[in-house]
Amino acid sequence: MVNYFFFLGSTTDLCWAELTSVLSKFKLPSADRVTTDLAKLELKTKLSDQTLVDLQNTLGGTVKIVSTTKQTDTLEADKITDIVLDFLIQDKPKRFTISEYGRDHLPTQELDIYKQLLKEKGIKSSYASASRKGANAAQLKRGLEELYILQISNQLFFGWTETVQDVDAWAKRDVKKPARDRQKGMLQPKVARMMLNLALGDTPASEAVVLDPFVGTGTILIEAAELGFQYVFGADFSDQAIIQANMNLSWWQKQTSNTFHYELVRKEVSHLSKRDFPQSITHVVTEPFLGKLRPSPQQLPNIQKGLVKLYKGMIKGWQQTLEPGTKLAILLPAWEIKGKIFELDETYKDLERAGFKHLDEPLRAGRVEAITQRLVHMLEYKPYVES
Ligand SMILES: C[S@@+](CC[C@H](N)C(=O)[O-])C[C@H]1O[C@@H](n2cnc3c(N)ncnc32)[C@H](O)[C@@H]1O
Repeated sequence: MVNYFFFLGSTTDLCWAELTSVLSKFKLPSADRVTTDLAKLELKTKLSDQTLVDLQNTLGGTVKIVSTTKQTDTLEADKITDIVLDFLIQDKPKRFTISEYGRDHLPTQELDIYKQLLKEKGIKSSYASASRKGANAAQLKRGLEELYILQISNQLFFGWTETVQDVDAWAKRDVKKPARDRQKGMLQPKVARMMLNLALGDTPASEAVVLDPFVGTGTILIEAAELGFQYVFGADFSDQAIIQANMNLSWWQKQTSNTFHYELVRKEVSHLSKRDFPQSITHVVTEPFLGKLRPSPQQLPNIQKGLVKLYKGMIKGWQQTLEPGTKLAILLPAWEIKGKIFELDETYKDLERAGFKHLDEPLRAGRVEAITQRLVHMLEYKPYVES
């Protein structure tokens, strides 16, 4: 038996929802969420290296995947040393580190002692210490092998880190884009990826057509292309945004080995229609304008009024553009002021009335302490049809 542990990123609920959806797409059993930021998938046989890499590269919200092949309920330090030593003797890593999870209250493993013990057995090795939170992606990329001891209640799990998020690839699509627009507050590519995975569910990306009607600099469409979408469409009422999205998407076409076709339309969202796009849209993934980030309590009513109006226009545009059955993942704001949460109830009603039904509870995407919270809403367009 083998257990795979998925280390979830900081927006843990969103990362977990994405993992659940992607495991189902890979036709794997469901995982258990063992702690807020850790999920465990129990399997009878090992996954191939390629499947692990594909899983890691698909997921925006999983930081690393660790496979464990030994499990015990003994917590004695000597026994733990023996098990760790067995792993090191068997796998003979050239450079290793030992990371722990759920054991912050205990002293760390003495790496030098393991090196000595291995030497006594005629095994040459070197080690590097990593932070208590585990080795970082850069260390692992340079060939450091990470043995994990995970403690979940009174159970210990031992095994090696299999894959880790390719931080350079994510950073490239984030900060190396030719056109960036700080003022508009660009969406993190990982959040864009999670929204796409959630919207897609089991549908293969190659069979889907995505629209981002508030395309900005094109972050969502670049992630869609990376996931395997072949048709990605964007719209925005700003000339500047269309120029920027065009720069980024044509740049990405040259960088990636994936082939994809994109089309950009300069239009106010409420004016969009089916005729604007050469294919019918199956998915909408978008981050609309969310209003001022740090509003005062006095400013909030006016901000909400403006946004409700904008979103009414958005809903109208969607009704003119989308086919029944379209799946949507959209970020909408909520505000936390003095411990009270304010949501856009009027927009929720407008969505419902227009046939955009919630598929799940909204999930938080972003920092907990921010006044303006960003919630991912999962919707399906099911307009009422008179029979
Ligand atoms: C928060 S930004 C989207 C940023 C984008 N996700 C990115 O990563 O660059 C919102 C975008 O919506 C556009 N926008 C705002 N109101 C609009 C409207 N009524 N119709 C069409 N586009 C609009 C803005 O020009 C802006 O580019």
